Amino acid sequence: MNERPVRDFDFHGAALDTIFDTYKELRENCPVGWSDHYGGFWFLAKNEDIFNAEQDWATFSVAPSMLLPAFGTDEPMIPIDIDPPVHSAYRKLLLPLFTPRAVDDLTPFVEQTARDLADEVGKSDIADIGLGYARPLPSIIFCTLVGYPQEDWYLFDEWVDRIIYGRDVNPAESEKAGNEVREYLWALVEKRRQEPPKDDITGRLITAVIDGRPITDEEILNYAYLLFVAGLDTTAWAIRSSLWYLARNPEDQERLRRDPELISSAVEEFLRTLSPVQAMARTATKDVEVGGCPIKQGDRVVLAFGSGNRDEEAYANPDEIVIDREQNRHFAFGVGIHRCLGSNLGRREVIVAVRELLDRLPPFEAVNLDEPWHGVGPLTVRFKREA
Ligand code: HEM
Repeated sequence: MNERPVRDFDFHGAALDTIFDTYKELRENCPVGWSDHYGGFWFLAKNEDIFNAEQDWATFSVAPSMLLPAFGTDEPMIPIDIDPPVHSAYRKLLLPLFTPRAVDDLTPFVEQTARDLADEVGKSDIADIGLGYARPLPSIIFCTLVGYPQEDWYLFDEWVDRIIYGRDVNPAESEKAGNEVREYLWALVEKRRQEPPKDDITGRLITAVIDGRPITDEEILNYAYLLFVAGLDTTAWAIRSSLWYLARNPEDQERLRRDPELISSAVEEFLRTLSPVQAMARTATKDVEVGGCPIKQGDRVVLAFGSGNRDEEAYANPDEIVIDREQNRHFAFGVGIHRCLGSNLGRREVIVAVRELLDRLPPFEAVNLDEPWHGVGPLTVRFKREA
């Protein structure tokens, strides 16, 4: 095939409202195709094609960026926009802070924070557990991990909204917010350099050695910025979308209350079906054919993780949310060398958030059925207290 099968495919904003129908249509009729959005890109909608592209990093490079459109900066973010061989040296720097054991050590703090927030939203019969619970939890945890002042967490929401959720409609505003964050991060780095060393993210970054040389200021900033945009809204979205589902499916909510052991498999299923990262981009380093389509060197290629996660060739009844689904490997955290560095932490936060809310508060139901499944906005629920 020499032509580009063109589809009006977008994976941001309002397009997310109906994206699962879109994916189905693409998988059936146009599993590899071209979209003119964001300067033009190929998209891969099938599980197998996405998996293969993730493994073949030499052909599908993350440079200049896997974010499409950009996340408030054109600088390569570290390590997400860096290819081998340098990539692994960057990644190793922070790996010890995200191991299962490190996450276990942090868990009591995650639990206590979740309990405090749950008690707060549970004070009224109708509450916004999106903005009052899902959103602050990862921000507060993140402050501790990076070494930001604890009371600054509430500043982050507005920045994240402007950088991530405004970027497809207002790139200039997204860039402005990106610069504000970078200034904020830089002030912290300079302050920390004057203080005694501490083993947190900032402490490791400022003393890092890459391939035998000290890390540069620019690299520190590009790493810290990536963590800011990768770790906050993703986890908040995953918590919110899990609770969004439970607020609309009382039987499954009741089942998890009766059998909390099921919460971890339920969270995997929410991640598979309602994942915060619906797609990531790559750039072809050479001409390559996928599904009979002629991808040219330099073309952008979007891996539609959210579509791969619902591919009927990979999962039985893929659009059904089955909270005790077994063998549930999915793309929510990626599957290649750039697999999410914070996956242990992100997953743990979602599990704790669901468990603590169910444990401490009465059954809840959705009040505003128009609130979308996606994003980090409000999620209004009514708690059904016994009379
Ligand atoms: C539920 C929450 C999260 C989800 C769904 C998620 C998802 C992802 C995805 C899809 C990727 C790209 C994978 C690829 O293209 O192959 C990624 C990369 C990354 N994530 Fe996460 N993420 C989450 C939470 C976090 C947290 C809490 C942190 C850190 C505080 C974090 C840090 C990173 C980093 C550093 C990378 C780049 C890894 C590399 O390039 O080697 N993420 N994440």
